Amino acid sequence: MSAQSRTAAVPNDLASYWMPFTPNRAFKKAPRLIARAKDMHYYTPEGRALLDGTAGLWCTNAGHNRDPIVAAIQNQAAELDYAPAFQFAHPKAFELASRVAALAPGDLDHVFFCNSGSEAVDTALKIALAYHHVRGQGSRTRLIGRERGYHGVGFGGISVGGIVNNRKFFGALLAGVDHLPHTYNREQQAFSKGEPEWGAHLADDLERIVALHDASTVAAVIVEPMAGSTGVLPTPKGYLPRLRAICDKHGILLIFDEVITGFGRLGHAFAAERYGVIPDMICFAKGITSGAVPMGGVLARAPIHDAFMHGPEHAIELFHGYTYSAHPLACAAGLAALDLYREEDLFARAKKLEPLWADTAMSLKGLPNVLDIRTVGLTAGIDLASKPDGVGQRGVAVMQRCFQDENLVVRVTGDTIALTPPLIIGEQQIAEVFEKLGRAISAVN
Ligand SMILES: Cc1ncc(COP(=O)(O)O)c(C=O)c1O
Repeated sequence: MSAQSRTAAVPNDLASYWMPFTPNRAFKKAPRLIARAKDMHYYTPEGRALLDGTAGLWCTNAGHNRDPIVAAIQNQAAELDYAPAFQFAHPKAFELASRVAALAPGDLDHVFFCNSGSEAVDTALKIALAYHHVRGQGSRTRLIGRERGYHGVGFGGISVGGIVNNRKFFGALLAGVDHLPHTYNREQQAFSKGEPEWGAHLADDLERIVALHDASTVAAVIVEPMAGSTGVLPTPKGYLPRLRAICDKHGILLIFDEVITGFGRLGHAFAAERYGVIPDMICFAKGITSGAVPMGGVLARAPIHDAFMHGPEHAIELFHGYTYSAHPLACAAGLAALDLYREEDLFARAKKLEPLWADTAMSLKGLPNVLDIRTVGLTAGIDLASKPDGVGQRGVAVMQRCFQDENLVVRVTGDTIALTPPLIIGEQQIAEVFEKLGRAISAVN
Protein backbone atom coordinates (compact mmCIF):
# COMPACT_ATOMS: atom_id res chain seq x y z
CA MET A 1 0.00 0.00 0.00
CA SER A 2 1.42 3.40 -0.91
CA ALA A 3 1.73 6.02 1.78
CA GLN A 4 -1.03 8.01 0.10
CA SER A 5 -3.53 5.17 -0.09
CA ARG A 6 -2.69 4.17 3.49
CA THR A 7 -3.48 7.72 4.59
CA ALA A 8 -6.73 7.68 2.66
CA ALA A 9 -7.70 4.39 4.27
CA VAL A 10 -7.33 5.79 7.80
CA PRO A 11 -10.54 7.47 8.95
CA ASN A 12 -9.76 11.01 9.97
CA ASP A 13 -12.08 11.22 12.93
CA LEU A 14 -11.81 11.49 16.69
CA ALA A 15 -13.21 8.10 17.64
CA SER A 16 -10.20 5.89 18.24
CA TYR A 17 -8.30 7.99 20.74
CA TRP A 18 -9.59 7.26 24.26
CA MET A 19 -8.51 10.43 26.01
CA PRO A 20 -7.14 10.43 29.58
CA PHE A 21 -8.91 12.33 32.38
CA THR A 22 -11.27 13.86 29.80
CA PRO A 23 -15.02 13.62 29.22
CA ASN A 24 -14.52 11.98 25.83
CA ARG A 25 -18.04 12.41 24.44
CA ALA A 26 -18.26 16.09 25.32
CA PHE A 27 -14.74 16.78 24.05
CA LYS A 28 -15.36 15.11 20.72
CA LYS A 29 -18.47 17.25 20.17
CA ALA A 30 -16.43 20.45 20.71
CA PRO A 31 -12.72 19.59 20.52
CA ARG A 32 -10.08 21.95 21.83
CA LEU A 33 -7.17 21.18 19.55
CA ILE A 34 -3.65 22.50 19.92
CA ALA A 35 -1.30 22.13 16.98
CA ARG A 36 1.89 23.93 17.87
CA ALA A 37 3.50 26.12 20.51
CA LYS A 38 6.21 28.70 21.08
CA ASP A 39 7.33 30.31 24.35
CA MET A 40 4.20 31.51 26.20
CA HIS A 41 1.70 30.55 23.50
CA TYR A 42 -0.13 27.64 22.00
CA TYR A 43 -1.61 27.79 18.50
CA THR A 44 -4.77 26.05 17.30
CA PRO A 45 -4.70 24.25 13.92
CA GLU A 46 -6.23 27.42 12.44
CA GLY A 47 -3.38 29.48 13.86
CA ARG A 48 -5.19 31.20 16.74
CA ALA A 49 -2.67 32.09 19.49
CA LEU A 50 -3.60 31.03 23.05
CA LEU A 51 -1.80 32.33 26.12
CA ASP A 52 -0.68 29.32 28.18
CA GLY A 53 -1.77 29.85 31.77
CA THR A 54 -0.86 26.33 32.86
CA ALA A 55 2.57 25.45 31.45
CA GLY A 56 0.82 22.58 29.68
CA LEU A 57 0.07 20.35 32.65
CA TRP A 58 2.35 22.20 35.08
CA CYS A 59 5.39 21.04 33.15
CA THR A 60 6.76 23.40 30.46
CA ASN A 61 8.48 25.60 33.03
CA ALA A 62 10.99 27.05 30.53
CA GLY A 63 8.24 27.87 28.02
CA HIS A 64 7.37 26.01 24.84
CA ASN A 65 9.61 24.77 22.06
CA ARG A 66 12.68 26.51 23.36
CA ASP A 67 15.41 26.34 20.72
CA PRO A 68 18.15 24.81 22.92
CA ILE A 69 15.86 22.02 24.11
CA VAL A 70 14.61 21.33 20.58
CA ALA A 71 18.18 21.20 19.27
CA ALA A 72 19.34 18.92 22.10
CA ILE A 73 16.56 16.43 21.37
CA GLN A 74 17.23 16.54 17.61
CA ASN A 75 20.96 16.03 18.07
CA GLN A 76 20.47 13.24 20.57
CA ALA A 77 18.04 11.41 18.27
CA ALA A 78 20.66 11.51 15.53
CA GLU A 79 23.47 10.35 17.83
CA LEU A 80 22.01 7.68 20.14
CA ASP A 81 18.36 6.73 20.01
CA TYR A 82 18.44 4.19 22.81
CA ALA A 83 20.83 2.25 25.01
CA PRO A 84 19.80 -0.55 27.38
CA ALA A 85 18.97 0.84 30.79
CA PHE A 86 19.90 -2.36 32.67
CA GLN A 87 23.58 -3.37 32.91
CA PHE A 88 24.54 -0.64 30.38
CA ALA A 89 24.28 3.11 30.42
CA HIS A 90 25.03 6.20 28.34
CA PRO A 91 27.06 9.18 29.57
CA LYS A 92 24.23 11.71 29.71
CA ALA A 93 22.38 9.61 32.31
CA PHE A 94 25.24 10.15 34.78
CA GLU A 95 25.60 13.79 33.83
CA LEU A 96 21.93 14.53 34.37
CA ALA A 97 21.82 12.63 37.68
CA SER A 98 24.79 14.68 38.94
CA ARG A 99 23.16 17.92 37.80
CA VAL A 100 19.84 17.10 39.51
CA ALA A 101 21.65 16.01 42.69
CA ALA A 102 23.60 19.28 42.69
CA LEU A 103 20.31 21.21 42.60
CA ALA A 104 18.79 19.28 45.49
CA PRO A 105 19.24 20.37 49.09
CA GLY A 106 21.20 18.45 51.74
CA ASP A 107 22.40 14.93 51.01
CA LEU A 108 19.69 14.13 48.49
CA ASP A 109 22.39 13.04 46.11
CA HIS A 110 21.31 9.87 44.30
CA VAL A 111 18.86 9.81 41.42
CA PHE A 112 16.75 6.90 40.15
CA PHE A 113 15.19 7.71 36.77
CA CYS A 114 11.80 6.69 35.40
CA ASN A 115 9.36 8.20 32.89
CA SER A 116 6.56 9.97 34.72
CA GLY A 117 5.35 11.30 38.01
CA SER A 118 3.29 8.19 38.64
CA GLU A 119 6.33 6.00 38.17
CA ALA A 120 8.37 8.30 40.40
CA VAL A 121 5.84 7.86 43.21
CA ASP A 122 5.70 4.09 42.87
CA THR A 123 9.51 4.01 42.73
CA ALA A 124 9.83 6.05 45.93
CA LEU A 125 7.26 3.92 47.77
CA LYS A 126 9.07 0.74 46.67
CA ILE A 127 12.45 2.14 47.70
CA ALA A 128 10.98 3.01 51.12
CA LEU A 129 9.68 -0.51 51.65
CA ALA A 130 12.88 -2.13 50.39
CA TYR A 131 15.03 0.22 52.50
CA HIS A 132 13.40 -0.95 55.71
CA HIS A 133 13.61 -4.54 54.49
CA VAL A 134 17.36 -4.43 53.80
CA ARG A 135 17.92 -2.89 57.23
CA GLY A 136 16.11 -5.75 58.94
CA GLN A 137 12.93 -3.77 59.65
CA GLY A 138 10.65 -5.60 57.23
CA SER A 139 7.64 -5.04 59.50
CA ARG A 140 7.60 -1.41 58.36
CA THR A 141 5.18 -1.79 55.45
CA ARG A 142 2.53 0.83 56.12
CA LEU A 143 2.40 3.87 53.81
CA ILE A 144 0.77 7.14 54.84
CA GLY A 145 -0.61 9.63 52.33
CA ARG A 146 -2.93 12.59 52.73
CA GLU A 147 -6.52 13.39 51.84
CA ARG A 148 -6.73 15.49 48.67
CA GLY A 149 -3.22 14.34 47.71
CA TYR A 150 -2.50 13.42 44.10
CA HIS A 151 0.34 11.04 43.45
CA GLY A 152 -0.40 9.89 39.93
CA VAL A 153 -2.32 6.88 38.75
CA GLY A 154 -0.28 3.77 39.58
CA PHE A 155 -1.71 1.48 42.24
CA GLY A 156 0.78 2.85 44.77
CA GLY A 157 -0.05 6.43 43.88
CA ILE A 158 -3.83 6.06 44.01
CA SER A 159 -3.55 4.13 47.29
CA VAL A 160 -1.67 6.91 49.09
CA GLY A 161 -3.54 9.56 47.09
CA GLY A 162 -6.66 11.13 48.47
CA ILE A 163 -9.02 11.75 45.57
CA VAL A 164 -12.15 9.65 45.74
CA ASN A 165 -12.79 9.31 41.99
CA ASN A 166 -9.23 8.14 41.41
CA ARG A 167 -9.71 5.39 43.98
CA LYS A 168 -13.28 4.14 44.11
CA PHE A 169 -13.35 2.30 40.77
CA PHE A 170 -10.15 0.35 41.26
CA GLY A 171 -10.73 -2.28 43.87
CA ALA A 172 -8.96 -2.78 47.17
CA LEU A 173 -5.81 -0.80 46.27
CA LEU A 174 -2.66 -1.37 48.37
CA ALA A 175 -3.22 -2.85 51.78
CA GLY A 176 -1.97 -1.06 54.87
CA VAL A 177 -2.36 2.55 53.80
CA ASP A 178 -3.59 5.39 56.00
CA HIS A 179 -4.15 9.09 55.35
CA LEU A 180 -3.42 12.36 57.11
CA PRO A 181 -6.18 14.97 56.96
CA HIS A 182 -5.90 17.53 54.18
CA THR A 183 -4.83 21.00 55.18
CA TYR A 184 -7.51 23.17 53.57
CA ASN A 185 -10.01 25.08 55.68
CA ARG A 186 -11.79 27.92 53.93
CA GLU A 187 -13.05 29.51 57.11
CA GLN A 188 -9.53 29.85 58.44
CA GLN A 189 -7.57 30.37 55.23
CA ALA A 190 -9.71 32.11 52.60
CA PHE A 191 -7.84 34.46 50.24
CA SER A 192 -4.38 33.61 51.64
CA LYS A 193 -1.33 34.65 49.68
CA GLY A 194 1.37 32.05 50.15
CA GLU A 195 1.32 29.53 53.01
CA PRO A 196 -1.70 30.04 55.28
CA GLU A 197 -1.08 30.88 58.94
CA TRP A 198 -3.59 28.32 60.17
CA GLY A 199 -3.12 24.57 60.07
CA ALA A 200 0.39 23.51 61.20
CA HIS A 201 -1.23 21.44 63.96
CA LEU A 202 -2.76 19.14 61.33
CA ALA A 203 0.66 17.49 61.00
CA ASP A 204 0.21 16.19 64.56
CA ASP A 205 -2.36 13.77 63.23
CA LEU A 206 0.60 11.62 62.25
CA GLU A 207 1.08 10.94 65.97
CA ARG A 208 -2.47 9.60 66.12
CA ILE A 209 -1.85 7.32 63.14
CA VAL A 210 1.42 6.08 64.63
CA ALA A 211 -0.28 5.44 67.97
CA LEU A 212 -2.97 3.43 66.17
CA HIS A 213 -0.64 1.21 64.10
CA ASP A 214 2.68 1.43 66.01
CA ALA A 215 5.77 3.01 64.49
CA SER A 216 7.31 -0.42 63.85
CA THR A 217 4.72 -0.95 61.07
CA VAL A 218 5.06 2.42 59.33
CA ALA A 219 7.46 2.76 56.37
CA ALA A 220 6.88 6.23 54.95
CA VAL A 221 4.76 9.34 54.71
CA ILE A 222 4.27 10.96 51.31
CA VAL A 223 2.92 14.49 50.78
CA GLU A 224 2.99 17.19 48.15
CA PRO A 225 4.56 20.40 49.55
CA MET A 226 1.70 22.10 47.69
CA ALA A 227 -1.24 19.93 46.70
CA GLY A 228 -1.67 20.94 43.07
CA SER A 229 -4.22 18.69 41.44
CA THR A 230 -6.93 19.22 44.04
CA GLY A 231 -6.81 22.94 43.55
CA VAL A 232 -3.53 24.53 44.71
CA LEU A 233 -3.45 23.96 48.47
CA PRO A 234 -0.22 25.37 49.92
CA THR A 235 0.74 23.64 53.16
CA PRO A 236 0.29 25.84 56.23
CA LYS A 237 3.27 27.63 57.76
CA GLY A 238 5.23 25.28 60.00
CA TYR A 239 3.39 22.13 58.85
CA LEU A 240 6.24 20.46 56.97
CA PRO A 241 8.90 20.95 59.69
CA ARG A 242 6.43 19.44 62.15
CA LEU A 243 5.86 16.44 59.89
CA ARG A 244 9.63 16.03 59.54
CA ALA A 245 10.09 16.05 63.32
CA ILE A 246 7.42 13.41 63.89
CA CYS A 247 8.87 11.19 61.14
CA ASP A 248 12.32 11.51 62.69
CA LYS A 249 11.01 10.64 66.12
CA HIS A 250 9.53 7.38 64.83
CA GLY A 251 12.07 6.34 62.17
CA ILE A 252 9.56 6.95 59.36
CA LEU A 253 10.77 8.09 55.94
CA LEU A 254 9.39 11.36 54.61
CA ILE A 255 8.80 11.61 50.85
CA PHE A 256 7.99 14.88 49.13
CA ASP A 257 6.13 14.49 45.86
CA GLU A 258 7.59 17.46 43.99
CA VAL A 259 6.30 16.44 40.57
CA ILE A 260 4.68 19.88 40.31
CA THR A 261 6.71 21.91 42.79
CA GLY A 262 10.12 20.84 41.46
CA PHE A 263 12.12 22.95 39.02
CA GLY A 264 11.19 26.43 40.05
CA ARG A 265 7.44 26.44 40.50
CA LEU A 266 7.70 27.78 44.07
CA GLY A 267 10.77 29.92 43.43
CA HIS A 268 13.39 27.28 44.24
CA ALA A 269 14.78 24.23 42.50
CA PHE A 270 12.70 22.20 44.96
CA ALA A 271 10.05 23.28 47.45
CA ALA A 272 12.03 21.45 50.14
CA GLU A 273 14.39 24.42 50.02
CA ARG A 274 11.57 26.94 50.40
CA TYR A 275 10.39 25.16 53.52
CA GLY A 276 13.82 24.40 54.97
CA VAL A 277 12.91 20.74 55.28
CA ILE A 278 15.00 17.90 53.88
CA PRO A 279 12.83 14.91 53.04
CA ASP A 280 14.33 11.43 52.64
CA MET A 281 13.21 11.27 49.02
CA ILE A 282 11.89 13.67 46.42
CA CYS A 283 9.76 12.55 43.47
CA PHE A 284 10.18 14.71 40.38
CA ALA A 285 9.00 14.69 36.73
CA LYS A 286 7.42 17.31 34.46
CA GLY A 287 9.80 20.29 34.75
CA ILE A 288 12.93 18.13 34.57
CA THR A 289 12.67 18.25 30.76
CA SER A 290 10.38 21.28 30.72
CA GLY A 291 7.77 18.81 29.52
CA ALA A 292 9.51 18.16 26.21
CA VAL A 293 10.20 14.44 26.70
CA PRO A 294 8.58 12.21 29.34
CA MET A 295 10.86 11.73 32.33
CA GLY A 296 10.56 11.28 36.08
CA GLY A 297 12.82 10.32 38.91
CA VAL A 298 13.45 9.96 42.60
CA LEU A 299 16.14 11.74 44.57
CA ALA A 300 17.25 9.73 47.59
CA ARG A 301 19.40 10.75 50.53
CA ALA A 302 22.81 9.13 50.81
CA PRO A 303 21.96 6.84 53.76
CA ILE A 304 19.00 5.41 51.87
CA HIS A 305 21.06 4.66 48.77
CA ASP A 306 23.96 3.37 50.85
CA ALA A 307 21.77 0.96 52.78
CA PHE A 308 21.40 -1.04 49.56
CA MET A 309 25.12 -1.11 48.71
CA HIS A 310 25.93 -4.31 50.57
CA GLY A 311 26.32 -7.94 49.57
CA PRO A 312 28.23 -9.37 46.64
CA GLU A 313 29.19 -6.71 44.08
CA HIS A 314 27.94 -8.73 41.11
CA ALA A 315 24.41 -8.80 42.57
CA ILE A 316 21.67 -6.33 41.67
CA GLU A 317 20.94 -4.15 44.69
CA LEU A 318 17.42 -2.96 43.84
CA PHE A 319 15.07 -5.05 41.72
CA HIS A 320 13.34 -2.17 40.05
CA GLY A 321 13.68 -0.13 36.86
CA TYR A 322 12.13 0.71 33.51
CA THR A 323 13.18 0.00 29.93
CA TYR A 324 13.19 3.75 29.41
CA SER A 325 14.85 4.81 32.70
CA ALA A 326 17.19 7.66 31.73
CA HIS A 327 16.18 7.49 28.06
CA PRO A 328 18.79 9.33 25.96
CA LEU A 329 16.26 11.81 24.50
CA ALA A 330 14.92 12.61 27.97
CA CYS A 331 18.43 13.08 29.35
CA ALA A 332 19.36 15.40 26.48
CA ALA A 333 16.17 17.41 27.00
CA GLY A 334 16.77 17.46 30.75
CA LEU A 335 20.31 18.78 30.44
CA ALA A 336 19.18 21.50 28.03
CA ALA A 337 16.26 22.44 30.30
CA LEU A 338 18.55 22.70 33.35
CA ASP A 339 20.92 24.89 31.32
CA LEU A 340 18.04 27.19 30.41
CA TYR A 341 16.81 27.38 33.99
CA ARG A 342 20.31 28.38 35.07
CA GLU A 343 21.13 30.77 32.22
CA GLU A 344 17.82 32.61 32.53
CA ASP A 345 17.73 32.30 36.33
CA LEU A 346 14.14 31.13 36.03
CA PHE A 347 13.71 29.84 39.59
CA ALA A 348 14.70 33.24 40.98
CA ARG A 349 12.44 34.84 38.39
CA ALA A 350 9.48 32.86 39.76
CA LYS A 351 10.35 34.07 43.24
CA LYS A 352 10.60 37.68 42.11
CA LEU A 353 7.28 37.53 40.27
CA GLU A 354 5.44 35.84 43.14
CA PRO A 355 4.18 39.06 44.88
CA LEU A 356 2.93 40.58 41.61
CA TRP A 357 1.35 37.27 40.63
CA ALA A 358 -0.39 36.97 44.03
CA ASP A 359 -1.66 40.57 44.02
CA THR A 360 -2.97 40.27 40.47
CA ALA A 361 -4.68 36.96 41.27
CA MET A 362 -6.40 38.55 44.27
CA SER A 363 -7.86 41.22 41.97
CA LEU A 364 -10.48 38.59 41.04
CA LYS A 365 -11.82 38.67 44.61
CA GLY A 366 -15.36 40.03 44.55
CA LEU A 367 -16.21 38.70 41.08
CA PRO A 368 -19.44 36.69 40.98
CA ASN A 369 -19.11 33.13 42.29
CA VAL A 370 -15.49 33.49 43.42
CA LEU A 371 -15.34 31.75 46.82
CA ASP A 372 -11.61 31.64 47.44
CA ILE A 373 -8.27 32.45 45.80
CA ARG A 374 -5.01 30.83 46.87
CA THR A 375 -1.53 31.51 45.58
CA VAL A 376 1.97 30.23 46.22
CA GLY A 377 5.01 30.61 43.96
CA LEU A 378 3.74 30.94 40.40
CA THR A 379 0.51 29.06 41.04
CA ALA A 380 -3.03 30.11 41.78
CA GLY A 381 -6.22 28.24 42.62
CA ILE A 382 -9.57 29.96 42.25
CA ASP A 383 -12.61 28.23 43.73
CA LEU A 384 -15.90 29.00 42.04
CA ALA A 385 -19.34 28.27 43.42
CA SER A 386 -20.80 25.14 41.85
CA LYS A 387 -23.84 25.51 39.68
CA PRO A 388 -27.03 24.02 41.08
CA ASP A 389 -27.06 21.48 38.22
CA GLY A 390 -23.77 19.91 39.12
CA VAL A 391 -20.24 20.15 40.46
CA GLY A 392 -17.78 20.98 37.72
CA GLN A 393 -20.24 22.60 35.30
CA ARG A 394 -19.14 26.13 36.05
CA GLY A 395 -15.46 25.24 36.02
CA VAL A 396 -15.69 23.63 32.59
CA ALA A 397 -17.77 26.51 31.27
CA VAL A 398 -15.11 28.99 32.38
CA MET A 399 -12.32 26.88 30.87
CA GLN A 400 -14.23 26.64 27.58
CA ARG A 401 -14.96 30.38 27.59
CA CYS A 402 -11.26 31.10 28.20
CA PHE A 403 -10.29 28.86 25.30
CA GLN A 404 -12.95 30.03 22.85
CA ASP A 405 -13.37 33.72 23.61
CA GLU A 406 -10.32 34.81 25.58
CA ASN A 407 -7.53 32.82 23.88
CA LEU A 408 -6.32 31.61 27.25
CA VAL A 409 -5.59 28.07 28.44
CA VAL A 410 -6.51 27.36 32.05
CA ARG A 411 -6.83 24.10 33.95
CA VAL A 412 -9.91 23.05 35.84
CA THR A 413 -10.55 20.50 38.59
CA GLY A 414 -14.17 20.45 39.63
CA ASP A 415 -15.04 24.11 39.99
CA THR A 416 -11.51 25.19 40.81
CA ILE A 417 -9.47 26.99 38.19
CA ALA A 418 -5.74 26.29 38.49
CA LEU A 419 -3.08 28.53 36.98
CA THR A 420 0.61 27.63 36.68
CA PRO A 421 2.21 29.55 33.82
CA PRO A 422 5.65 28.92 32.35
CA LEU A 423 8.26 30.68 34.50
CA ILE A 424 9.16 32.94 31.56
CA ILE A 425 5.82 34.76 31.85
CA GLY A 426 6.15 38.54 31.49
CA GLU A 427 4.62 41.08 33.86
CA GLN A 428 2.19 42.22 31.18
CA GLN A 429 1.22 38.65 30.52
CA ILE A 430 0.40 38.16 34.21
CA ALA A 431 -2.06 41.03 33.93
CA GLU A 432 -3.40 39.54 30.70
CA VAL A 433 -4.00 36.10 32.28
CA PHE A 434 -6.13 37.52 35.09
CA GLU A 435 -7.98 40.03 32.91
CA LYS A 436 -8.97 37.27 30.52
CA LEU A 437 -9.92 34.89 33.32
CA GLY A 438 -11.87 37.62 35.11
CA ARG A 439 -13.92 38.34 31.97
CA ALA A 440 -14.60 34.63 31.50
CA ILE A 441 -15.72 34.19 35.13
CA SER A 442 -18.00 37.23 34.86
CA ALA A 443 -19.50 35.94 31.62
CA VAL A 444 -20.47 32.51 32.98
CA ASN A 445 -23.64 32.66 35.07
C1 LIG B 1 2.08 15.72 42.65
C2 LIG B 1 1.96 14.80 41.48
N1 LIG B 1 2.44 13.57 41.55
C3 LIG B 1 2.37 12.71 40.53
C4 LIG B 1 1.79 13.10 39.35
C5 LIG B 1 1.69 12.11 38.22
O1 LIG B 1 2.51 12.46 37.17
P1 LIG B 1 2.31 11.77 35.74
O2 LIG B 1 1.03 12.27 35.19
O3 LIG B 1 3.52 12.21 34.99
O4 LIG B 1 2.31 10.30 35.96
C6 LIG B 1 1.29 14.38 39.21
C7 LIG B 1 0.69 14.84 37.95
O5 LIG B 1 0.12 15.90 37.85
C8 LIG B 1 1.36 15.26 40.31
O6 LIG B 1 0.84 16.49 40.25
